[in-house]
Amino acid sequence: MALESRPDDSSEQMLARNRLLLNFTDLSNFNDDPIPLIVRGDGCEVIDVAGRRYIDGISGLFCSNLGHGFGAEVGAAAQRQLSELVFAPNWSLTHPSAVRLAERLTTIAAPLGMERLFLTSGGGESVEAAWKIVRQWHIANGQPQRTKAIARNLAYHGTSLGALSFTGLDDCREPFMPLPIPVSFVSNTNAYRHPQGDDEARFTKALLNEVHETILREGPDQVAMLIAEPIQNSGGAFVPPRGYWPGLRALCDRYGILLVADETISAFGRVGEWFASTRFDAKPDIITFAKGATAGHAPVGGVLVNERVAEPFGSGQVTYMHGLTFGGHPLTTAIALTVLDIYEREEVFENVRSLEPFLDSRLQQLRGNPLVGDVRGAGFFWAVELVKDRETHETFDDDEAQWLLKSELSGHMDELGLLCRLDDRGDPVIQISPPLVSDEATLDRIVSILGEATDRAHRSWSRIRSRSAKTAAVRKRASATKSQPIPA
Ligand SMILES: Cc1ncc(COP(=O)(O)O)c(C=O)c1O
Repeated sequence: MALESRPDDSSEQMLARNRLLLNFTDLSNFNDDPIPLIVRGDGCEVIDVAGRRYIDGISGLFCSNLGHGFGAEVGAAAQRQLSELVFAPNWSLTHPSAVRLAERLTTIAAPLGMERLFLTSGGGESVEAAWKIVRQWHIANGQPQRTKAIARNLAYHGTSLGALSFTGLDDCREPFMPLPIPVSFVSNTNAYRHPQGDDEARFTKALLNEVHETILREGPDQVAMLIAEPIQNSGGAFVPPRGYWPGLRALCDRYGILLVADETISAFGRVGEWFASTRFDAKPDIITFAKGATAGHAPVGGVLVNERVAEPFGSGQVTYMHGLTFGGHPLTTAIALTVLDIYEREEVFENVRSLEPFLDSRLQQLRGNPLVGDVRGAGFFWAVELVKDRETHETFDDDEAQWLLKSELSGHMDELGLLCRLDDRGDPVIQISPPLVSDEATLDRIVSILGEATDRAHRSWSRIRSRSAKTAAVRKRASATKSQPIPA
């Protein structure tokens, strides 16, 4: 619908276009079409200002793990907290909700060795807070020269300048160079595109060799931290091969490097466990988390540190030189505690574990479409990679990918009523991360819509291809005879 045709210039969509600066959004896309305005949630669906329903196939942005049906209960907890205590900082003093959350999460993460919690308001803040812990820990251990980090290609770890240093996405980094932290990037665990990706053992070995070589190149006594997601989101749900995380652990131990698992997305049930580190045999020194901690009801993130890392801070040898006024706010921590209760009471992670095989097998059926090159993921965290040629894995060029994701698929998903992420940060993928309370029927509907949308896209692509093949044939004939005009 064209914006001019709206009767009311003060409509929220018009105001959004003219007054909001949106995250990573090209506002010129909304010169003719209104900015989508979501006004209500209902179970696993959201409803826009025109009353249209969409399945929330991406949990907002990997946040709404409980969908949209627990707001009243969480709101009541928020009200109780605010009528008791509006605010107290975690700054030389604290308050019961922060303490109880720290106790609860360190108990949950005790099998991973986690002992102490620093609270933030999001993922990037947590990553940056983790880096400061790492640096101060090395200084306390007589290694101030450890100023470098290793992260992975395409990985997204946040956008504040520190967190951005670890983010392996050129488009995000470029305008802000030089970034403050020297980071080397190594391959992520994309088996589909790695030369050894077909053989799990060789793949693991090749990845770990690359990390090893990078440590040696950068100087083993210079590297402070290696950061990775247990299952990488950006690029599309890259599951680690067996032995990968134990291998990272061994390399970090060998060279005195701290290992950070960024679980901003993967914690709190996304792959059926409190922490994905458990599932992928990761034994990090530090875990960063956010989104699912409150299932999107409030901004809470955090940094969990193990006993070894906590020691100099806990013993008073080191004062942590970092702080955030709103980190561990009474309101948000009370909300997190309530959400953790709901996760347990509703057996939410059990739901993920029991429905994962169904979702996996339904998604694998999409491989019937010639555009579908790979279907990968775990739990309720999946990606469908689209390719031009399944035999060669040939991907789409930038213009084609834009057309496929932004013009084709985006329109079909909108019409068919599914919110998902059409991501071209790496090769084009459709990302699916439904609420963890989704039942079988909801998952089935999501995959049916994906199937219909990708079938439509394939038909359009085939038409374009046959037209351009014809054009190319005509061009060839024309240049051979040099007599006919070349069609536009
Ligand atoms: C793995 C990872 N780390 C960090 C972040 C940054 O989180 P935030 O946007 O809350 O700063 C994200 C955001 O999606 C993420 O996926």
